[in-house]
Amino acid sequence: MRIIFIFFEGERVPRAAREPKVTGGRIAEKGGTMSLFVKFNLILILVFAVALVPAGYISNRLLQKNARTQIVQNARIMMETAMATRGYTVKQIKPLLAPRLAEEFLPQSVPAYSATEIFNYLRETNPEYTYKEATLNPTNPRDRTVDWEADIVNAFRANEKLGEIIGERDTSLGRALYLAHPLKITDKGCLSCHTTPDVAPASQVKAYGTNGGYGWKLNETIGAQIVSVPTTVPIGLANTAFKTLLGSLIAVFASILVVLNILLWFVVIRPIKRLSRMADQVSTGDLDVPEMTVKGSDEVAVLSGSFNRMRISLTKALKMLEGE
Ligand code: HEC
Repeated sequence: MRIIFIFFEGERVPRAAREPKVTGGRIAEKGGTMSLFVKFNLILILVFAVALVPAGYISNRLLQKNARTQIVQNARIMMETAMATRGYTVKQIKPLLAPRLAEEFLPQSVPAYSATEIFNYLRETNPEYTYKEATLNPTNPRDRTVDWEADIVNAFRANEKLGEIIGERDTSLGRALYLAHPLKITDKGCLSCHTTPDVAPASQVKAYGTNGGYGWKLNETIGAQIVSVPTTVPIGLANTAFKTLLGSLIAVFASILVVLNILLWFVVIRPIKRLSRMADQVSTGDLDVPEMTVKGSDEVAVLSGSFNRMRISLTKALKMLEGE
């Protein structure tokens, strides 16, 4: 027994001094097997979190940008529809109604009126969509600019080159995107009705009075066509898509983490735990511990093979010493 004791003491000291690499294993032994799990999981979670932040930021921005493009596209289609309605009124309705204009003014012949009316019908089922020929000094009072519309018209009046203004605002029906184009008097024909009441058709003056819609000048920006479309649906869809994307990324990562943990347990931690238990038993003098076999040819299998050989050599050496 005395010899064995000395042998172990002699073996222990140089081993620790010779192989500083064993430190990692010693920490694992001290803190329990969980520490390897904790380290492994912490690093993986950290790497995932670091990757998730830019990925989430970029995909969210992309989705929001797409949603906005879609909203602007909606607004453009509405504007095009308004222009088409105006064109239809000028080309087809106006000539039909012109002969009756002297006896009775028919607003159906006015492009601004028909475009506004068409969209008023649309609003009956889609109240968030609006179209307005917002004018500073209008013939029909319903076309008068309200504060924020006046700002847009004045921006167009201040900058002749400005062809379009896009913006967002909160309305009673939710957030809306507006698209505005300037309304400019480019045709002398317009002035026959919009200069002074005595030049305008008598039937028009009779129907609308003399308060507004006069005094417009050639090349003057008198108002703006303003289309307003809701942003809630496309933005909501983008937010849902983002949440789904984020959720599935996290789910994929979580499954990978679970699989890696299971692998880590069966391939590394469990055999190492068994090996270390065996080493413990051998180190306390119990040389009858059964041999441990790890299948395969990976590092852990090689380690257990070496360990088994070391145990056999140790047993033999001790027997030789005892025999002396
Ligand atoms: C036959 C007379 C007549 C002519 C010509 C005419 N308008 Fe008008 N315009 C009107 C009347 C009447 C209204 C009001 C219609 C309504 O009830 O909405 C109106 C309304 C408008 C509006 C909506 C704002 C408002 O004043 O209520 C705009 C913008 C407009 N006209 C622009 C033009 C332009 C641009 C031209 C030339 C291309 C033109 N108009 C030619 C009679 C005319």
